Amino acid sequence: MSTDEPRMATQYHDASNLNARIALHERFSTNPRSLPLWIFDQLELPDDARVLEIGCGPGNLWADNAERIPDGLQITLTDASPGMVREAKARLGGSRSFRFRVADAQELPFADGSFDAVIAAHMLYHVADRDKAFSEIVRVLRHGGRLYAVTNGMKHMYELAPMLRVLDPEWPHENIGADLPNFNLENGTEQLAPWFDQLTSLRYEDSLVVTEAKPLVDYLLSGMHAQVLAERMPGEEFQERVSVLADSLERELASHGRIRITKDPGMFVAASPARTHDRRSPSLSCQSRFGYTPGVRSARSVLVGVAWLLSAILAVLWLGVVALNIMD
Ligand SMILES: C[S@@+](CC[C@H](N)C(=O)[O-])C[C@H]1O[C@@H](n2cnc3c(N)ncnc32)[C@H](O)[C@@H]1O
Repeated sequence: MSTDEPRMATQYHDASNLNARIALHERFSTNPRSLPLWIFDQLELPDDARVLEIGCGPGNLWADNAERIPDGLQITLTDASPGMVREAKARLGGSRSFRFRVADAQELPFADGSFDAVIAAHMLYHVADRDKAFSEIVRVLRHGGRLYAVTNGMKHMYELAPMLRVLDPEWPHENIGADLPNFNLENGTEQLAPWFDQLTSLRYEDSLVVTEAKPLVDYLLSGMHAQVLAERMPGEEFQERVSVLADSLERELASHGRIRITKDPGMFVAASPARTHDRRSPSLSCQSRFGYTPGVRSARSVLVGVAWLLSAILAVLWLGVVALNIMD
């Protein structure tokens, strides 16, 4: 399922951890247009499009945009976690004809060309074999269908790393997302380019201005690492560290009134290549555009071979003409 399956299964057993993190964004984000609304704004879909969301979580994208979803849209929500699919179904199931299915992005249980769009929001960095997921996304998209892949830049919420180090002085990362280096706004193009055409990236401007300590502590405690830590050390010691963290945040707020946190989410939009696709082979047209070369190299070799053959034929003809002239 993911880069660390047991840890991931616990983290996303249900939506409670994710909701603690979303609560911080909902209360303290500076951009008045929320991320789910912005994501929906970017979707270019005919009103009767067939849409697949992978790693849908509890279905926030659709709950937050419920009023603006065209009636004809056929939406299939999937997640590797049965708990998440259950929550999405409980939230959205009654409101319209969504379809729900437990599914791993690396093995999608749908026929080739079943969808006009695939949405993957804040989930690709958790997927262990992303090439497998990309080949599956390309396979289930119709030719020219689009992938909308939301992720974060590497500076996203980097101010939280020192806070996490209060809980764990050995926290090795520069931000809180241990999986973020796997797929982010900086390295996503390179990973998607072999598979997709017409790749573009968009950034969503935002930041957090936090004025209370508790939602920030809850956010940090909802993360995978804090949970592993809580299991590893005696309860009292962990609680002691949480108190030290809460006190230091309270002091910061008392002296500065607020804590400012950088946010850097964004989205890749990419089209499924308009040609018959081998399940495991990347797109040739993308390779040429983004400088990924193996497929281009083989096409180039064929052209060079043809040029050589033509030159040889011309040389033989020319020699024939010369020989005839000499004989005359
Ligand atoms: C950070 S949450 C994002 C949820 C939702 N997309 C959102 O933006 O609110 C990541 C989700 O990806 C799911 N996930 C992780 N690995 C997955 C995989 N290999 N296939 C499908 N879903 C996966 C998790 O179960 C979790 O629900």
